[in-house]
Amino acid sequence: VNGKIVIPVVVNVLYRTAAENISDAQIQSQITVLNKDFTATNSDFSSTPSLFSGVAANVGITFELVAINRKSTTKTSWSSTDRQNNTMKKSTSGGINPTSPSTNLNIWIVSSMPSTGGSILGYAQFPGGSLSTDGVVLAHTCTGTIGTASAPFNLGRTATHEVGHWMNLRHIWGDANCGSDLVADTPTHNAANTGVPTYPHLSTCTGTPVEMTMNYMDYTDDRGMYMFTNGQKARMAALFVSGGARSAFGI
Ligand code: ARG
Ligand code: ZN
Ligand code: CA
Repeated sequence: VNGKIVIPVVVNVLYRTAAENISDAQIQSQITVLNKDFTATNSDFSSTPSLFSGVAANVGITFELVAINRKSTTKTSWSSTDRQNNTMKKSTSGGINPTSPSTNLNIWIVSSMPSTGGSILGYAQFPGGSLSTDGVVLAHTCTGTIGTASAPFNLGRTATHEVGHWMNLRHIWGDANCGSDLVADTPTHNAANTGVPTYPHLSTCTGTPVEMTMNYMDYTDDRGMYMFTNGQKARMAALFVSGGARSAFGI
């Protein structure tokens, strides 16, 4: 892909309380973060360790907010069953249907998503799934950088990570001990990293022992993640060419 990839974004807000009905400005702050992170214009991109500067990528994808839909709900939270059923994505179950999902990235903003021992920040559907549930779901408290966004997930990186999944990226640790993310230029990691690891964080896996904990597809706090790689870029770009799973975007 040599041309500009611009992804139209539709944001669907499901709220019960006034706080959950996040402002247009908070939503726009999220779009701004996506635009920075996917063009390597985020201010922390320069924190990339020199070991990885040769593979750190300007993904070259931008995002344009085209609509915000809002709907009130009586739901106080969205359970794992709700997430399996994608309750928030269906008007028949009180949610909001996606808008033209073959040509828009739909993002749903919800209150909270409890799971065992806490709650999840967001989740995404990989390419190739049902269009009726295609897109990304975010908790409002980790959406954007203002309003209800709260530390340590208040730099908009949950969306960056989830849009990475939506563009076919796997977790950097391959969801297994020394697992594969199907990307050659990311090192193999033992497991997910959390918080903000001290550099260098070493793995015991085969290959370079220095983990790329600052990659968006790890599990660190927002301020600990600030780069994609060229290999990840290639995996994302492949979706938008003719024959790719997201070629309907017409880019
Ligand atoms: N799917 C992950 C979760 O729900 C998102 C992790 C995003 N990480 C972040 N620093 N915002 O836990
Ligand atoms: Zn993830
Ligand atoms: Ca890899």
